[in-house]
Amino acid sequence: MDRVIIFDTTLRDGEQSPGCSMDGNDKLEVAKQLARLGVDVIEAGFPISSPGDFAAVKRIAETVGRAGRKNGEGPGRNPPEICGLSRAIPGDIDACWNAVKGARHPRIHTFIATSDIHIKHKLKMTRQQVLDRAVGMVKHARRYTANVEFSPEDAVRSDFDYLCQVVTAVIDAGASTVNIPDTVGYSIPSEFGSLIRALYEKVPNIKKTVISVHCHNDLGLAVSNSLSAVLNGARQVECTVNGLGERAGNASLEEIVMALRTRRKLFNVETGVRAGEIYRSSRLVSQITGMAVQANKAVVGANAFSHSSGIHQDGMLKHPMTYEIMNPSDVGIEESVLLLTARSGRNGLDNRLKHLGYRLSARELDQLFGRFKALADKKKYVFDDDLVALVSEDKSVARTVFSLDYLNTSSGTGTIPTATVRLKRGGKVTQEAACGDGPVDATYRAIDKMTGWKPVLEDYSLRAISSGKDALGEVTVRLDDKGRKFLGRGASTDIIEASAKAYLAAVNRMLTAPKKKGGKTVQEKI
Ligand code: KIV
Ligand code: ZN
Repeated sequence: MDRVIIFDTTLRDGEQSPGCSMDGNDKLEVAKQLARLGVDVIEAGFPISSPGDFAAVKRIAETVGRAGRKNGEGPGRNPPEICGLSRAIPGDIDACWNAVKGARHPRIHTFIATSDIHIKHKLKMTRQQVLDRAVGMVKHARRYTANVEFSPEDAVRSDFDYLCQVVTAVIDAGASTVNIPDTVGYSIPSEFGSLIRALYEKVPNIKKTVISVHCHNDLGLAVSNSLSAVLNGARQVECTVNGLGERAGNASLEEIVMALRTRRKLFNVETGVRAGEIYRSSRLVSQITGMAVQANKAVVGANAFSHSSGIHQDGMLKHPMTYEIMNPSDVGIEESVLLLTARSGRNGLDNRLKHLGYRLSARELDQLFGRFKALADKKKYVFDDDLVALVSEDKSVARTVFSLDYLNTSSGTGTIPTATVRLKRGGKVTQEAACGDGPVDATYRAIDKMTGWKPVLEDYSLRAISSGKDALGEVTVRLDDKGRKFLGRGASTDIIEASAKAYLAAVNRMLTAPKKKGGKTVQEKI
């Protein structure tokens, strides 16, 4: 059976989704999970785009890209290849190499557009100049490594004969992977499959490279187009967790992997992905980016495995396969288990966290145990989902500048909502009160008075974690400070407290984020 290489670009194309930017710590955490998931290649970022992204890719290359199987990586390449993106410009490729070279299997991915519309209006070059640049830059990258991927951007809208000419030339120049992007999500499955087949027929040296595909979802066809390409010989698929990505996103990793697995006989290919890690990966990416997963999303949505119609429920009770083509447990969805209560000890907590895939240091466990006890005192049962929320909230502790010391709000019909908030910064305690439209608004106004910052609250969402009236509320906010976006999350059984914690987490990120130098970043320029 042939192997399809799963190339994950959540940390590069996924991160380009509006409001989904991740800092170095977030990226590292996602990269560790992608390694556990068993993807073959992690595209960790676009190193020339900013010093922060360069540092993040380098750190991932030197840690996740060097770790051994004993650290829990999946069955994919061990460790995964770490790839960086670069325009077809020598400086981009040099920076990319410097960022990825610490990995055991580094890869340079370089691209230039080949459609006339891009060549003429964006690049202001000729076809010949683009061809020469593509060949020159693949050769430049080959001076560093034999693992070089080339993408003719907007391949789908490129003239076919010219595309074949470019693909043949870059393979001769040493590209070990050639990726065919549907950059604008324009193609449909039969057409895209035919394009891949036609490339196999017309490009004489195509057997010397791996043909990859990279599909965007503007018409909702990214997954179908990628699968059609696999049926026609593509052996690498570029995709993202939860289908994150520019505009309508990229092909969703979980849908690609589960389609190939569920219809194995039809595709006759396999991947190295450990499907049991899919749900955890989806949750982590959603939590870190603040991008909720729609309830009816295939494979990982909240309703993906719930059956409400009577006929379906009856069938399911008689035989699960009547209405289910996959088991929830195949993708790592378990019944939320209630094992922990206020009487549970440190060991019980540690065991449950290990089962959920979290390995905490003794210090981290101590910190979490205190917060677990406080939660267990308020709530009768602590569910797995509650623990995940506690752990993810704890991750922001390293960034703490302001912490919440005291909060009192009053609101009700015919009352002016007011909040009194006390914050700690280092050893210093400050206190302010404010009125607002409601208790959350009043709380945020009081916090603004103390931080001296007035960010725009762009997005606020609240969801209940686990079930019951005593469920934890998890709030996610996105703040905008002159174009820079900051995400914060907070959880509590009191939703006003959760709101305050989320707001402070975002403010703390804002205060600890590296300042953007004057001018635009490279990413904004392309
Ligand atoms: O969509 C696209 O064309 C890309 C390339 C850089 C591969 O993301
Ligand atoms: Zn893309």
